Amino acid sequence: PGVRLADYRPPAFLVDEVHLDFRLAPSSTRVTARLTLRRNGGGDAPLVLNGRGLTPIRFAIDGIPLAADRYTVTSEDVTVRGVPDAFTFESEVEIDPDANRALEGLYTSGGRFYTQCEAEGFRRITWFPDRPDVLARYTVRIEAEATYPRLLSNGNLIDEGKLENGRHYAVWQDPFPKPCYLFALVAGDLDLLEDRFVTASGRSVVLRLFVDPGQAPRVAYAMDALKRAMRWDEENYGREYDLDLFMIVAVRDFNMGAMENKGLNIFNSSLLIADPETATDLDYERIESVVAHEYFHNWTGNRITCRDWFQLCVKEGLTVFRDQSFSADMRGEAVQRIKDVRALRARQFPEDAGPLAHPARPDHYRKIDNFYTATVYEKGAEIVRLLRTLIGPDDYRRGMDLYFQRFDGQAVTVEDFISCFAEVTGRDLSGVLSWYLQAGTPEVSVTPRYDAGAKTLSLDLRQAVAPTRGMADKVPLPIPLRLGLLDAEGRQQSFIAPGAVEPTGEAIVTFDKAEETVTLTGIAEEPVLSTLRGFSAPVTVTVAEPGESRFIRLANDPDLFNRWEAGQSLARDLMLARVKSKPDTAGERRFVDALGRAMADQSSEPAFKALLLALPSEQDLALAAPPADPAAIHEARDALRKLAAEVLRGQFEALHDGLVPMGAFSPDAESAGRRALRNAVLDMLMAAGTPSDIARAKAHADAARDMTTSLGGLSALMQAGGAAYDSAVAAFYTRWQDEPLVIDKWFALQARSPASDALDKVKTLTGHPAFDAKTPNRFRALVATFAQMNPVRFHDPSGAGYRFLADQIIAIDRFNPQVAARQLEPLGGWRRYKPELAALMKAELARILASPDLSPNVAELAGKALAE
Ligand code: ARG
Ligand code: ZN
Repeated sequence: PGVRLADYRPPAFLVDEVHLDFRLAPSSTRVTARLTLRRNGGGDAPLVLNGRGLTPIRFAIDGIPLAADRYTVTSEDVTVRGVPDAFTFESEVEIDPDANRALEGLYTSGGRFYTQCEAEGFRRITWFPDRPDVLARYTVRIEAEATYPRLLSNGNLIDEGKLENGRHYAVWQDPFPKPCYLFALVAGDLDLLEDRFVTASGRSVVLRLFVDPGQAPRVAYAMDALKRAMRWDEENYGREYDLDLFMIVAVRDFNMGAMENKGLNIFNSSLLIADPETATDLDYERIESVVAHEYFHNWTGNRITCRDWFQLCVKEGLTVFRDQSFSADMRGEAVQRIKDVRALRARQFPEDAGPLAHPARPDHYRKIDNFYTATVYEKGAEIVRLLRTLIGPDDYRRGMDLYFQRFDGQAVTVEDFISCFAEVTGRDLSGVLSWYLQAGTPEVSVTPRYDAGAKTLSLDLRQAVAPTRGMADKVPLPIPLRLGLLDAEGRQQSFIAPGAVEPTGEAIVTFDKAEETVTLTGIAEEPVLSTLRGFSAPVTVTVAEPGESRFIRLANDPDLFNRWEAGQSLARDLMLARVKSKPDTAGERRFVDALGRAMADQSSEPAFKALLLALPSEQDLALAAPPADPAAIHEARDALRKLAAEVLRGQFEALHDGLVPMGAFSPDAESAGRRALRNAVLDMLMAAGTPSDIARAKAHADAARDMTTSLGGLSALMQAGGAAYDSAVAAFYTRWQDEPLVIDKWFALQARSPASDALDKVKTLTGHPAFDAKTPNRFRALVATFAQMNPVRFHDPSGAGYRFLADQIIAIDRFNPQVAARQLEPLGGWRRYKPELAALMKAELARILASPDLSPNVAELAGKALAE
């Protein structure tokens, strides 16, 4: 069962105009739709419109009520026979927003109305050809009681007024044709923060951010981020905003992060609301990035949309690349790149290595909701970045300009996107298309050979992609390696790149064959290779080099990404040696000393040092050396942290004392970096966990004036456990119980506890009065955090962690299949774990698959995860 890209057919009918009329009531909303339709191409096919969970009231064609023998309604659609070539179709339905806990279509949250239509939620609102290649102009009338003061939809407000019986209405019109997944409606009592933005061409745009009553001051940062994003898109992509009004609404109950509905973005409140007391630096960072992401969709997604859902990455991968570039400009390129790569490796690499592996452009699916993945988003972004690296920034910009010019107002494919760059460069870019079509992470190996007489360095390059399901044979891909050379003292060495004449300090070497040798010349002495700088392609790379080289790069590489990478790679090998009970104590000591020197380096910024100190996660280690034993990994990682704490104690304590936040809070990257480093050294010290460390952690938590520091202190205390931790956790709850976003953090913190009774505590917390599985943020804070961020307790040898997760998935699948399906990932990777654990994981997947009335969402992923 499912949908195949190969079966794509253009729509049989196009819709020019849509008139929607909503009479809102929480459990019985009436929706009247009038569609102006015309046949697309010839034929006499019947009209088929999607619809789910709609109670039909009436149908009419050209104003004449439809006789019962003209149409057939199923649970999925309505088929109308004998329709003319051009006509209006009118329908009236009743829906129940209060009962809608799937949070797709029209639903209520906190007594207000919200919509989420991407990908296929519009069909839960009215009968419609619910596919992205049907673009129509919308006029929307909303009528409700006056207790819902704000009535919002896409586009411009063209009419509003009072009615009898305390009711009122508003009429919105969106001049830009759009697919129905970009439709939005919000109604209720909301507060407002308003500002203005003058575009490059001098048009004044009103900006309105809507939040729950009393929250308006808390979206000031989001507003600031929005204005910076608007300016950035003008300066970097020549894109101006196109309506006179731009609105964002925050909602507590939301399945995903945020949604780019035309002119009316809807955000998970956790990604919009922030103030110094309640938000962490990570929250600020994510708000900045998601506000930009959704805003950037106005051009990459809305003005140019996807032809079908297989092309999802044509909007998502591209828009993630754009938001990453924005964040890099706002916060510093190297630090941003390291964070993006860390996220890619944590989320996308496991996906690519497991049963759920799929290409950035998949070619079949059962539920498209299951394909809003790290592969489509993050790997999709890497492919756009790689394209830019291959053709250079100027041609990239020319290609984007052509893309906007040629495809504005259209629904496009990945091929359309690539064709613009092929055209402006005159190059064959079919290799870039292959990146979109092939699942799996390419493994690159590099063997350098230096010839002292000829002063040349030959690099034997190889690439291979492991087979993934349904895709045994892979073609070689174009892989750009950004590289430079160091000498034995770590100084940069110049060289002449293949095909070049002038010496350079850095070059991009692209190879696109399974095996290839390239030669660099003019190299004075035996070099240390620094390759894949800035992570120039989403691959794993192994270099045949002496162990010494990584120490040289860690200390000296001018490419900060590779400096960080050298440290990660050293730490990973050292910890994995311990996992195999073959500790390299001399190497560990050397690594820790190198970390100490990096901490003392006055020229590098605190944010970078914090990243250096964050050793590869237990999840990283599990991925690096299958079959994984999470308990042994946990111990090995703690051992290296403890050694660092012991050897570098004096330095860590001095840093911790010296970085005490002073003055008023500021969310800027530099201040955030200082807070991050202070938390990171405290975290390291807690691996030793002496009484003085515990006292230090307690003082850190008690004196905290910002949420980053407060949680840093709590999480440090959690490592030691005991009375200090218990009372701090209780006090935190008392203090913040009226702030849902902070209580989410409180649940998430406890879900990460390394204590042996962590699972029991998590289970107890599911019965806490503040726990509510129907609110995705709260559910994810506890259940997803436990399953994804607490490997040692999730992979308990008894299988109790797996059983807990499976029970939760089965329970929430009854009302929210989208969120349920997203929780399968921690079980899906069973092949990477040691056999005893793998068997228990499989058993839980099988139990999920066998449970009655499973949603297609969960069935698709659980089935794939189990398939041999
Ligand atoms: N387009 C949204 C974004 O990336 C996400 C929508 C997610 N919808 C879904 N059904 N998974 O900004
Ligand atoms: Zn997006």
